[in-house]
Amino acid sequence: MHIDLYERIWMWAASVLIVLFLGAILFTAGAQAIQPPSHVETIDPTAIANHPEFGHPAIVRGTDGSITVPVVSAMFAFSPDPIEVPAHVPVTFRITSMDVIHGFQVVGTNANAMAIPGYISQFTVTFPKAGEYPIACNEYCGLMHHMMVGKIVVK
Ligand code: CUA
Repeated sequence: MHIDLYERIWMWAASVLIVLFLGAILFTAGAQAIQPPSHVETIDPTAIANHPEFGHPAIVRGTDGSITVPVVSAMFAFSPDPIEVPAHVPVTFRITSMDVIHGFQVVGTNANAMAIPGYISQFTVTFPKAGEYPIACNEYCGLMHHMMVGKIVVK
């Protein structure tokens, strides 16, 4: 079969790019241990009510001033709500779900994670300025999914 020279060049170029991108994923996953912010820590979703951290999720201030916010998502709300945190301080969100997969997106920022039953998703974000940030569930989770919103108040 005859393949035109330019077509061959582009086929090779596309193949090299695919190998390069897949290689970059494997390299960061393996050598630099970069992974999605969930699937690291597990939790029993049926025992959340009695869990020391997530039973009555409360905002914790560490000795270094950092803030940790445990969040439980369940149809169709986040707890705690509203979440009050200071600006200019690293805030670590630890998110899990009691029932189905929910989303936790802080609107207007790049903070965005899935809340997966059985797992704890964790990420840290520093809010640059005071204000109110809505939280949206961006995973379809049931009939009232569109009503599942929360609020972060940054002071
Ligand atoms: Cu929770 Cu959609």
